Amino acid sequence: MTHIDYKRRQFLQYAALGTLATTLPGFALAESRGLNQTPNNLFKADVEIALTAQTADIPILPGAHTHVFKYHGKLLKGPQTALKELPGYLGPILNFEQGQKVRIYFYNQLPEPCVTHWHGMHVPQVMDGHPMYAIYRGEQYVYEFEVKNPTGTNWYHSHTHELTATQVYQGLAGLITISDEAERKLDLPSGEFDIPLVIQDRSFTNGNQLRYILNRHQRMRGFLGDTILVNGQEISAIPVKTRAYRMRILNGSNSRIYKLGWEDGTPMIAIGTDGGLLEKPETLPYIMLAPAERVELWVDFSGRKPGSDLMLQNLAYQGSASHRGGGMGGGMHQDMGRMDMMDGASAQNEVISIAKFHIIEQISDSPKLPVELVPMRRLTTQDISNPDKTVPIAIGMRHMAFQLNGKTFDMQGHTELEKIPVNSVQKIKIYHDNRGMGGGMRGGRGGMGMMMAMPHPIHLHGQQFQILSRTQINQGNVYDTIKDGFINSGWKDTALVMPGEEIEIIKPFKDFTGLFLYHCHNLEHEDMGMMRNFFVS
Ligand code: C2O
Ligand code: CU
Ligand code: CU
Repeated sequence: MTHIDYKRRQFLQYAALGTLATTLPGFALAESRGLNQTPNNLFKADVEIALTAQTADIPILPGAHTHVFKYHGKLLKGPQTALKELPGYLGPILNFEQGQKVRIYFYNQLPEPCVTHWHGMHVPQVMDGHPMYAIYRGEQYVYEFEVKNPTGTNWYHSHTHELTATQVYQGLAGLITISDEAERKLDLPSGEFDIPLVIQDRSFTNGNQLRYILNRHQRMRGFLGDTILVNGQEISAIPVKTRAYRMRILNGSNSRIYKLGWEDGTPMIAIGTDGGLLEKPETLPYIMLAPAERVELWVDFSGRKPGSDLMLQNLAYQGSASHRGGGMGGGMHQDMGRMDMMDGASAQNEVISIAKFHIIEQISDSPKLPVELVPMRRLTTQDISNPDKTVPIAIGMRHMAFQLNGKTFDMQGHTELEKIPVNSVQKIKIYHDNRGMGGGMRGGRGGMGMMMAMPHPIHLHGQQFQILSRTQINQGNVYDTIKDGFINSGWKDTALVMPGEEIEIIKPFKDFTGLFLYHCHNLEHEDMGMMRNFFVS
């Protein structure tokens, strides 16, 4: 991690905070610094956790320990199940229940600023981990929120200005599960039959230390590693019995997009997405999972032979080195593939083994897959507060930097079109803005054209949304290799926008006012400024 010019970044950060603090009344720097240092005694917490971001040396690969950043957790109050440590570098799994009031004492023991975001959770602005609330070494920030989300799998990670990619890369992330009444009624596989799978790609030096990038091209593409870690470790095989399991998969990678599938062609059965359980299970041949996206699977090992294995893989998909020409702009992707090969990372389109499940024991009974999961109200255009207005999220690029709505990140800044009335429901259109690109997306070879043809996982803070439509203008062979892997029926907080694709979503903005981020969850893109604020008021 020696490539990071931390002093310079810190300088930039101070500069940004200093100049922007006065742009928004009520969010002055003086108010954001020093905020929430102590608990609010009126907030009666059911669960209290101390969470410390610190450096640690832990075993990840055989041999030398790896120097990482790690969230260390300690349960101060509440049920013992609320916090579960994992081996590996990830933070503990936080197990919450809907309706619980949670207080988290966050301590920063890192040699750089840090802030923690509860990705997927519907919490007030000051509890959301906006980078303006970063704290410095030795400081404390007290997060207090009620768990409003329904059952599902969320996560937490650092969200520090221009340091999110490197901090998450070094280990600052962990899972959050939420349970509720509706889930308990379903009696889904639990305990040892409920398996978390956080998938991340990393690279290591010969001495087992984390190796990051970046030359400028790698940074534009995002980091791709050559080693897959599961739950913060290199694992050999996960032992399972011949019955059904619930698997909570999070793509915690910086920029790698997975096409998840079973080695033997068994279909994938999804029971949940980012925001919780689906209405009913959905069967897909494979599932596309971009950074920050979650999917919950129902995996039934019944009928498999003890001693046999089943491998979860990243399947090959086109849109990279192996493909020439064709709908999605093969030329550009060819260049991307070549770049991948040049820096030794596994290309996005390769078959990669992710996790091997080893059947260790035959057992006779297994729960049956429920036909219905949880009721879900479909949002339609009828629900939109202002049917004449669509909020744009235009993906663009200028001066070799990705932008959203024509701008890069501005700590507390927002434009007129980024103002959202509180308690409204908005239709939002996420699309590629090709103006000034000379049609680069279709015709370009390398350079700008290549970059415009990148996929971007777009994430919105605050409440979960629903996907209304996906439109792909570049139909053809390339898109055909991924198009059956999208789950559009559930609650989402991150949507993978492929090149040539336009996605319409409906999102409620209830309960909380203030600044809520929307950004690309390719963490290198985010740190380069592909992030903006919505101002909800
Ligand atoms: Cu997972 Cu704004 O982030
Ligand atoms: Cu988030
Ligand atoms: Cu991006």
